Amino acid sequence: MSYSFLRPLLFTLDPEQAHCAAFAALDAGASLGLARHFAGALPPPRAIEVMGLYFRNRVGLAAGLDKNAAHLSSLAQLGFGFIEVGTLTPKAQPGNPRPRMFRLPEHEALINRLGFNNDGVDAAAPRLQRRNIGIPVGVNIGKNALTPIERAAEDYLIALRAVHATADYITVNISSPNTKNLRDLQAPDSVAALVRTLAQENRVLSQSSGARRPLAVKIAPDLDDGMIGDIVAAIIDAGGDAIIANNTTIDRTAVAGHRFAAESGGLSGAPLTRRADAVLAQAVKAAAGRVPVIGVGGIMSADDALRKLDLGAALIQIYTGLIYRGPGFVGDLVRALDARA
Ligand SMILES: Cc1cc2nc3c(=O)[nH]c(=O)nc-3n(C[C@H](O)[C@H](O)[C@H](O)COP(=O)(O)O)c2cc1C
Repeated sequence: MSYSFLRPLLFTLDPEQAHCAAFAALDAGASLGLARHFAGALPPPRAIEVMGLYFRNRVGLAAGLDKNAAHLSSLAQLGFGFIEVGTLTPKAQPGNPRPRMFRLPEHEALINRLGFNNDGVDAAAPRLQRRNIGIPVGVNIGKNALTPIERAAEDYLIALRAVHATADYITVNISSPNTKNLRDLQAPDSVAALVRTLAQENRVLSQSSGARRPLAVKIAPDLDDGMIGDIVAAIIDAGGDAIIANNTTIDRTAVAGHRFAAESGGLSGAPLTRRADAVLAQAVKAAAGRVPVIGVGGIMSADDALRKLDLGAALIQIYTGLIYRGPGFVGDLVRALDARA
């Protein structure tokens, strides 16, 4: 069944119900081996090295869609080169009250203030352990809403220890707009202290287990242009292994006048493309080849994805584009990027 037929049906549902219905359909299709047909004919897998890991292609799933690592084998059938799960917090938490997710079809956008609703790291770890999908899986970690921001590092440490054994890379999420004061952790001094602490623990864990886990840090698009270079440099100097640029935006200029524009939360999709590209370019410049930058935000077409590579992204991730373009979008991007490689 084509997505152009399914999408209007899904879009009649509340966005969170649509999310569950889409996953139920995908999981059913995947268990019958049908989901891989969405991907179409994929080019032969490549061996692209980024962060010391190998990727069959550069197209990844961004954090937030499979928060609990509950749909890995279904998602892998869509053709992704890697999948990032989470954000996972030390303890399970319900997130913000509903409604907390809004569709803006006129803008091909979403606004969400889910607030890290998730099962907690300990529930996800066995699922990560059991996976058998042959592509890297990143685990995005955050702090619980009730943990005071001054004690945020303790939460990140708990989460890091819980997922180190099973993650291929670990993303430190300090850029969600939906956890109070979380973005304050991006101030250069704060991010340097946090990443230094986590990188040190990561080294200890890696030495005792023999398994190296690159540490990526995900930044917001709402940083002052003058600060992005300092923040990226602080992350790298403190031991960060990659930058993910970027999370959702709190800026509403691009959707001004829309009935949901005043809803609080993070805006994603087409209205984010331009700003995400600008942040990516600045992050790549500041990283100066010392670490890779992963480009995410507003990829709604193959051209958007190719432009991220032109701007210097080593890998890309999608979320809102998948909601609007459907499961076949992954294969489309893989083919477009492969033709360039
Ligand atoms: C509904 C929703 C939930 C999200 N949850 C998370 C999350 O838990 N952790 C995170 O780092 N990013 C989260 N994101 C941000 C995405 O990973 C991505 O950075 C952002 O949406 C921009 O990409 P896009 O324009 O392709 O959607 C979420 C995005 C959406 C739309």
